[in-house]
Amino acid sequence: MTRATKRVVVTRRIFPELIEDLKRDFDVADNEADIAWSPPELAAALKNADAALITGGDRVDAALLAQCAQLKIVANIAVGYNNIDVAACTSHGVLATNTPDVLNEATADHAWALLLAAARRVGESERWLREGKWQRWTFDMFAGADISGSTLGILGLGRIGRAIARRAGGFGMQVIYHNRTRLAAADEAGARHVNLETLLREADHLVLVVPYSPAVHHIIGAAELAKMKRSATLVNIARGGVVDDAALVDALRSGRLAAAGLDVFENEPTLNPELLTLENVVLTPHIASSTRATRTAMASLAIANVRAALAGERPPSLLNPEALDHSR
Ligand code: DGY
Repeated sequence: MTRATKRVVVTRRIFPELIEDLKRDFDVADNEADIAWSPPELAAALKNADAALITGGDRVDAALLAQCAQLKIVANIAVGYNNIDVAACTSHGVLATNTPDVLNEATADHAWALLLAAARRVGESERWLREGKWQRWTFDMFAGADISGSTLGILGLGRIGRAIARRAGGFGMQVIYHNRTRLAAADEAGARHVNLETLLREADHLVLVVPYSPAVHHIIGAAELAKMKRSATLVNIARGGVVDDAALVDALRSGRLAAAGLDVFENEPTLNPELLTLENVVLTPHIASSTRATRTAMASLAIANVRAALAGERPPSLLNPEALDHSR
């Protein structure tokens, strides 16, 4: 039986005006407490839902989908979608969508914020200053690494990677990148394709933007860190699991690697406690896309995806077009 008003479940708190917008057309249930639902809680919440607006912390897999007979779409409010088993969605006739492009610039800005802060020791020197330790100036205080004129390495040159690469021009940097397959020259944003070894060896600063998949789990581990310059900075805005955090802690502690800027972590929001003890790492809580305007644009795109799916139309950022043939 189809209901007159479709039910949309929003799994985490989003801006109230977006909920109001949804409520004009749908029966909306949201997670007012904003505490991530466990798998059974998520299944219970989505049991009678026609659409789900979810975030990267919500796992959508075959076990969940089997309990949600009404569900037509899972709309991720994130560009990364390693939390969604897209093949399972397709086999259940559920459309899956993400939020590409609208977050490219904000996310690239944050990669630069982490890179500049880590290489120039901003967090460490600010903590020191706030602790009242600045009694006298010294010639070598907090001497960091040059950004201008250095070589930027990017692992995963996609939409966000290109936005990062474009900003490097303002710093007079050389940009090298590694993707498994070289891009067409028009898509390289002036960056030079190199193999992973060369990327690790030549980058003065290395930014990780590669989408997470099991194939790239711990693609940066002890062996890779050992190939980087000792003076290098590592920035991870991709996903936890791309870096072996324990190996990174060892490299930062031993001086094998100068600095790191991290927005994502293995097992986040629980961090490797050792990271918190290190001065040469800048840590942010997975906020690379978090500007008011960008988060609004991401949720608005996710809502546009939901509206299209529930109207029987193709959502603008559909991940599994093959599901359209047998969508519910
Ligand atoms: C994304 O969009 O994948 C981000 O990591 C979510 O903030």
